[in-house]
Amino acid sequence: MNILVLGSGGREHSIVWKLSRSRKVNRVYTGPGNAGTAALGINLPLDPGDFEAVKKAVIDNAINMVIVGPEAPLVDGIHDFFTADESIRHIPLIGPDRSAARLEGSKDFAKSFLTRHNIPTAAFKSFDISTLAEVPGFLQTLTPPYVIKADGLAAGKGVLIIDDVLTAEQEVREILNGKFGKAGNKVVVEQFLKGVELSVFIVSDGNTYKLLPEAKDYKRIGRGDTGLNTGGMGAVSPVPFADRTFMNKVITSIIEPTVKGLKDDGIVYKGFIFFGLINVDGNPYVIEYNARLGDPESEVILPRIKSDFLDLLEGIAQGNLEEKELETDERFFTTVMIASGGYPGHYEKGMKISGLDETKDCVIFHAGTKLTGDQVVTSGGRVLAVTSWGNTMQEALEGSYRNIPLISFDNMYFREDIGFDLKNY
Ligand code: AMP
Ligand code: GLY
Repeated sequence: MNILVLGSGGREHSIVWKLSRSRKVNRVYTGPGNAGTAALGINLPLDPGDFEAVKKAVIDNAINMVIVGPEAPLVDGIHDFFTADESIRHIPLIGPDRSAARLEGSKDFAKSFLTRHNIPTAAFKSFDISTLAEVPGFLQTLTPPYVIKADGLAAGKGVLIIDDVLTAEQEVREILNGKFGKAGNKVVVEQFLKGVELSVFIVSDGNTYKLLPEAKDYKRIGRGDTGLNTGGMGAVSPVPFADRTFMNKVITSIIEPTVKGLKDDGIVYKGFIFFGLINVDGNPYVIEYNARLGDPESEVILPRIKSDFLDLLEGIAQGNLEEKELETDERFFTTVMIASGGYPGHYEKGMKISGLDETKDCVIFHAGTKLTGDQVVTSGGRVLAVTSWGNTMQEALEGSYRNIPLISFDNMYFREDIGFDLKNY
């Protein structure tokens, strides 16, 4: 089979890497991809948001399946575009349709869904410009800090955590007045939950689901989880506190009611669901849903899947996921992200990367790279994810950290303490 993966980050490289090991796959195309995906298949100069261009690429390259990495094309309806077009309708596209992708695309929709189906989540209320006057009254019912979220996709910048009630009111007003554009036509205000976060993933064929390995992401830029939020600076899997007792709570109080709730609401969800959870005193709560895999979580969870990944994806497309095998590697996998100095603020691109061929006993997933001639250069804030493994988390981390010094580019930065809170495992 010929597969097209849409996207250009570490998540997409890890999907391409996993597929390239499948017996059933002939060729993997990536649109637009990066220098890492170019080494495993063919990069196509595609914008995943240009559905007509995606269609042309699918037809021209005799693609048999499309896998959508990032959320934006899903929220914008790429799945619906495929099913509405006779010439490509028969080609499975892995990722939910527009109605199902609202789980990520609208925080107001997700929170209403969670409440309607009695799934644990923080207390909340949604507002628009016409109900702005009710915001102070609702804030009075919460204890600080206050969590304020733009309803729609805001490139990862739409969530604010604010200590002071007057500033919180001011922020809600600014968002409703257009600070994040249309994404802020509605605002969700919610109670802050204190706990440790966890990323849990399932694949769903609209009827049944399979649980993928879980991961913990390190989102802050600085040592000890300090400083600005990023897309994710490293990840570990498995997560020691996600033991059988905790995961049973996740399954019974969150995953199963979500899958049933979607069905009850008449939504056929075909694709990945990423549950952003928080562990509050041993009990899981949903912070957010995403309609895709995580990044850098994919760089540790996909290497843990031992069974044929394409076979699993065919189960989503064909609706027979129940019959598919999912075997996982019990060892620990860790990934450490190497970023451009300055990220998540301003940073330079186009730095020459050297040493990639000197690494061993690890997999380097490219997150923000491109080829200039034969030279791999940086092209994003997050540049490379160095994944290693071992029988303990410590052993896996040693692998990642042994390899990073072999790689170099001007101004490279990485967190030296990924897994710091879980070191005894
Ligand atoms: P989201 O985009 O909804 O995942 O929010 C981004 C980040 O904000 C999350 O990963 C959490 O770290 C934090 N966050 C969001 N909602 C809450 C909440 N209710 N309580 C505590 N932290 C939150
Ligand atoms: N690493 C978090 C995300 O992919 O949203």
